[in-house]
Amino acid sequence: MSFPSSTAELRALDAAHHLHPFSDTKSLNAEGARVIVKAEGVWLTDSEGNRILDGMSGLWCVNVGYGRQEIVEAVRAQMSELPYYNTFFKTTHKPAIELATRLAELTPPQFSRVFFTGSGSESNDTVIRLVRRYFDIKEQPHKKIIISRRNAYHGSTVGAASLGGMAPMHAQGDLPIPGIVHIAQPYFWGEARQGETPEEFGLRTAKALESTIDALGEDRIAAFIAEPIQGAGGVIIPPATYWPEIARICRERDILFISDEVICGFGRTGKWFGCETFGTQPDILVMAKGITSGYMPLGGVMVADRVADVLIEHGGDFNHGYTYSGHPAACAAALANLDIMQSEGLVERVANDAGPYLAARWRALAEHPLVGEAPMMGLVGALELTPDKAGRTRFPDVGQVGTLARDFSFKNGLVMRAVRDRLIIAPPLTISHGEIDELVARARKTLDDTWGELSRRGWVR
Ligand SMILES: Cc1ncc(COP(=O)(O)O)c(C=O)c1O
Repeated sequence: MSFPSSTAELRALDAAHHLHPFSDTKSLNAEGARVIVKAEGVWLTDSEGNRILDGMSGLWCVNVGYGRQEIVEAVRAQMSELPYYNTFFKTTHKPAIELATRLAELTPPQFSRVFFTGSGSESNDTVIRLVRRYFDIKEQPHKKIIISRRNAYHGSTVGAASLGGMAPMHAQGDLPIPGIVHIAQPYFWGEARQGETPEEFGLRTAKALESTIDALGEDRIAAFIAEPIQGAGGVIIPPATYWPEIARICRERDILFISDEVICGFGRTGKWFGCETFGTQPDILVMAKGITSGYMPLGGVMVADRVADVLIEHGGDFNHGYTYSGHPAACAAALANLDIMQSEGLVERVANDAGPYLAARWRALAEHPLVGEAPMMGLVGALELTPDKAGRTRFPDVGQVGTLARDFSFKNGLVMRAVRDRLIIAPPLTISHGEIDELVARARKTLDDTWGELSRRGWVR
């Protein structure tokens, strides 16, 4: 008997047997999940034959677009040669060696070594253990605290969710774990004071790092972790003054700087890594997602030589690792993915072609009465929805209007995601000019539809 394939049957089985991540299972089961059956380039097809423009690259990961046979073939070849072997206990294999070597070339010069993981969350858990071991070895065992930011996202495991600053996640399961402190985020639209300029706000927010180090004591602070642009927090692009000030503080204080590049890495901001776009010099660089364009699960932690040398010279096992650390088929997918990115010049394309082309059209959406700001950097951007542009006010019951707009967007054949009342996009780096025009037209229609519905309800005038 073949497996059922009608949308109704698939939805019923999904509801009966599948618990979805970040979902309200009760309402999802009542509504029925959208079943995606195939994808090509930037286009998804669902089980009812609808073609949908994937403005989110899956979950910010399908950088080279769907259907790349070079990656499929590389994985197939690796699977038939060596489908699995681990990298524990004095063993290694060619795909892991080749990928580690390639990453050392691609990342900023302070990095020559990588620790492989299976995801961004595993990478950030690795970071907590690695940072603590580093300071133990340096005989500074009191340096344990990692400073992060409110509304940051660093993953879903206990450690990574603790590093993250998502209040709804902390509310479930007694998080954060001890030793993690959260400071303000550089979200100008949402958190600036009346009359404050973006430059003043960027500086003030960055200085919160310094005052927190002073308040808690530099001898207790191990590290500061941050995404170059907060992704899941709503694509928060900091004011221009923010990163230089953070870089100064990290340079002057005896703390490590961890750049979580799970979204910004591999071209998203127009350089290989977000830290290069913003001019910071991390000691640890966290990666996942775009490393394989999501074709296989893989993550990694690049460790700067000044840190890795201490760990290595000291000797002794690092008692940490995953069954799939450096999985050969995932490494093969990453290598084929990086080949595509390099041979097609995708990072340069984001900086000089697709990025500026989209940004010009996207920013024009800021003229819509519903839009407060329309930031875009590289190929990642947002639309802040507001009932009152001038006053930077929010809708009551935050999140309702965002969800309404997100649902309109789906109906209009465009995947955008909603964070609070902020719509976000991060399309594949391969998106053509014609597809960008289509994306912006669908986003505009979504704004019009949402405005129409809000007018009907009397929520805007
Ligand atoms: C910045 C950042 N770090 C870490 C993660 C967690 O990655 P994963 O879902 O692969 O565990 C994410 C996922 O969205 C992310 O955006």
